[in-house]
Amino acid sequence: MTTIERLSETELFENIFKPENRSDPYPFYRQLRRQPVSRIEDGRWVITRHRDIAQLLRDPRVGVSKPDPSDPRRQTIRKPDGSPFEGPFLNQDPPGHDELRAVVTDEFIPRVMTIRGHLEELVSAHLAPFVTGQAGELDVVNDLAYPLPVTVICELLGVPREDEAIFGDFARRLTRGLDPAETQTDEDLRELAIARGEMTAYCAGLFDFRRENPDDGLLCALMNRLDLFDLHATVQLLLIAGHETTVNLITNGTLTLMRNPSAMARLREDPDLAIPLVEEVLRYEPPVQMTTRRALADIDLGGVTITQGSRMFLMLAAGNRDETVFADPDRFVPDRESNPHLAYGGGVHYCVGATLARAEAQIALTALARRMRAPALVADPPPYRENAILRGPEHLPVAFERMSA
Ligand code: HEM
Repeated sequence: MTTIERLSETELFENIFKPENRSDPYPFYRQLRRQPVSRIEDGRWVITRHRDIAQLLRDPRVGVSKPDPSDPRRQTIRKPDGSPFEGPFLNQDPPGHDELRAVVTDEFIPRVMTIRGHLEELVSAHLAPFVTGQAGELDVVNDLAYPLPVTVICELLGVPREDEAIFGDFARRLTRGLDPAETQTDEDLRELAIARGEMTAYCAGLFDFRRENPDDGLLCALMNRLDLFDLHATVQLLLIAGHETTVNLITNGTLTLMRNPSAMARLREDPDLAIPLVEEVLRYEPPVQMTTRRALADIDLGGVTITQGSRMFLMLAAGNRDETVFADPDRFVPDRESNPHLAYGGGVHYCVGATLARAEAQIALTALARRMRAPALVADPPPYRENAILRGPEHLPVAFERMSA
């Protein structure tokens, strides 16, 4: 038996969070799939099979994993009418979730459907400084993958260009709030409260300006339909949910292409390949590796009963490599035909930004493949970010002989 086979489920789960395993957590997911519904020592459940995860995401007896109301570190915030403020709709169950989500899908989705041409221009603008006719090096994270989604969401919300850096900084600091409540330390909560306060103050100014200068943009549309609490929460959610995630998709995608030069060469010749290729990146290196849920009733699954109130980790990255659904799951197949990956979740919380993120990644990866001559990774594996859930490289330096226009 190899070492990994001797580890308990709790140890396998803990290994996924260890920084030394960040560049390749997949052997631990694979081993966990042998016991696909397992209870770890602190009582939480870890679910790793595709079928079970897909089913739980759609099960009305499963709710979002809310912070423990008895946790003295958290206070209930009340709206002026006395009703409790439940936070962004990602953290709410139906029916409250559905009402807020419907407003966002009405107003957000039509505006991103027409954005493709503009995304091409933005990607070109970010790569323009490297078109010098000479050899160079770009950090895919800082030079493209990070600024692109910030620019896009800032433009959609009407944030002035000169404030994009401020908005990007909020996104970086608020992302920790997407992690499971039980992994957040007192220091994280303090830092999150400060970042939320600063962003709320910034947005209040933005909302005032739009109230006096109405237009037909996304922000005005949201302002017309949401109360001030839900407006702040929704704008913050749109910023942070689409940020670190898209960064990781573009960066994981570039890294995967660099490791698979034949896929890179095919994409260079055939831009249509970008569509299945990005789906395969989402499956193979999902930007969101897992999500959490709570059982609202007793649930029988895989021969065990998950009792009401139990917390669950749904391991999206493990389901994406489930050998009963995906042939040869550890191989990157750029034109994989059937690809029902779980990278955007499923059920009522299925990602609102999936279309936008797909378009951003398809355009960014195609541009990199087409324009970089003789690209080479400077470090493999690259340095990774600390976060095991929103997983991706911290930097991805790539050297090239020439960047064409
Ligand atoms: C590659 C990029 C992205 C990935 C992998 C991703 C992944 C996810 C996942 C897994 C969920 C479900 C979470 C859960 O069920 O617990 C989710 C929800 C969500 N995502 Fe994304 N996301 C991405 C990009 C975006 C973008 C660009 C936006 C918007 C600008 C966005 C907005 C949202 C929102 C608002 C939700 C909450 C939906 C709800 O609760 O109904 N995401 N995303």
